[in-house]
Amino acid sequence: MTNELLAYRDRFPILEHTTYLINHSLGAMPARVEERMREYARTWAERGIRAWGEGWWTMPLTVGDQIGRIIGAPPGTVCMHQNVSVAESVVLSCFQATGERSRIVYERENFPSVRYVYQARHDLDVTVADDVVAAIDERTLLVPVQHVLFKSAEIQDVEAIVHAAHDAGAYVVLDAYQSAGAVPLDLTALGVDFAVGGSVKWLCGGPGAGWLYVRPDLIERLEPALTGWQAHARPFAFEPELEYADGIARFLTGTPNVPALYAATPGYDLIEEIGVDRIRANSLRQTQQLIDGAEARGFEIRSPREPARRGGTVTVHAPEFEAVHKELSERQILCDFRPDAGLRLGPHYFTSDDELERVLDQIAEIVTTGAHERWLGATARF
Ligand SMILES: Cc1ncc(COP(=O)(O)O)c(C=O)c1O
Repeated sequence: MTNELLAYRDRFPILEHTTYLINHSLGAMPARVEERMREYARTWAERGIRAWGEGWWTMPLTVGDQIGRIIGAPPGTVCMHQNVSVAESVVLSCFQATGERSRIVYERENFPSVRYVYQARHDLDVTVADDVVAAIDERTLLVPVQHVLFKSAEIQDVEAIVHAAHDAGAYVVLDAYQSAGAVPLDLTALGVDFAVGGSVKWLCGGPGAGWLYVRPDLIERLEPALTGWQAHARPFAFEPELEYADGIARFLTGTPNVPALYAATPGYDLIEEIGVDRIRANSLRQTQQLIDGAEARGFEIRSPREPARRGGTVTVHAPEFEAVHKELSERQILCDFRPDAGLRLGPHYFTSDDELERVLDQIAEIVTTGAHERWLGATARF
């Protein structure tokens, strides 16, 4: 069987010399990003100040609509921010003087940056929960959870969480960073109140292009305290008093991160062209190949095995895997590791089956020959 998605390999320059299995951390750069960065510079150089009126000013919304098409959100419900920490802070800033309803049922496995955002609000009671559904009660205000857990790549049952939260009158904030672009997502069908994510990972959109979704019927009812002039009804009137814009623009802050938004869209274009369903089908096949191949070589799998529960990354436990990771990197094979789990292998739609076999062979060879031992005790963050 030929894998049609391999036709996209030549869109990613790094694949010419590197096996790229770290798409859960920094997705590979599409070649067209260079062209887009030149377009950005040319626009600034040739159009100058007119560029704002010719698209720059509204980019957080137009690019947000493109994200919306990937994550199952209607037009006008997604806006762009620098990162998840900012997007989630904007959500939290909508809730001041919360009174009796001041509990955050916080999922223990959330990404740490998100945890700091909630911890920093001393007026809230942050309850860290392993069983989120059980912890939700009538004092709960917000329930920040992930779709695909960042450490284990496990897919969560978001519907059950939304159901419990809404029954109790609480809002769900879904961090879909580890699913957007890899696992099908329909925010409207899920009924989540807010969702956040970024573009660094499976969307292959690079840093600086975080996104925020707000459920359509909530948009006009909320007034974020973390704000700026892009959120004003008439930003160019420079009025002294805050009057929120209509629509999702009211969730913006100040001057947008224009170059990052230029860089982000080639990755989104490819995801839209291929479709997340096809990406997911290929990912399920390749993650199964990794699971079977690792086990056949005697390695243990430390990420979910069932198709319905596993995201795009397989964690393979090998002896002294930190040093094995370093040796793989010396051999132009990029992946990462988690201290308590093992090597994390995250193929994407442009990865070939042959590459996966080769990586597994290399891991086995490194462990058998002890080639990694020269790196024992060395520390590496990336
Ligand atoms: C699930 C998840 N949320 C958030 C982040 C990052 O947050 P921020 O965009 O604020 O850097 C990551 C990884 O970088 C992540 O995996």
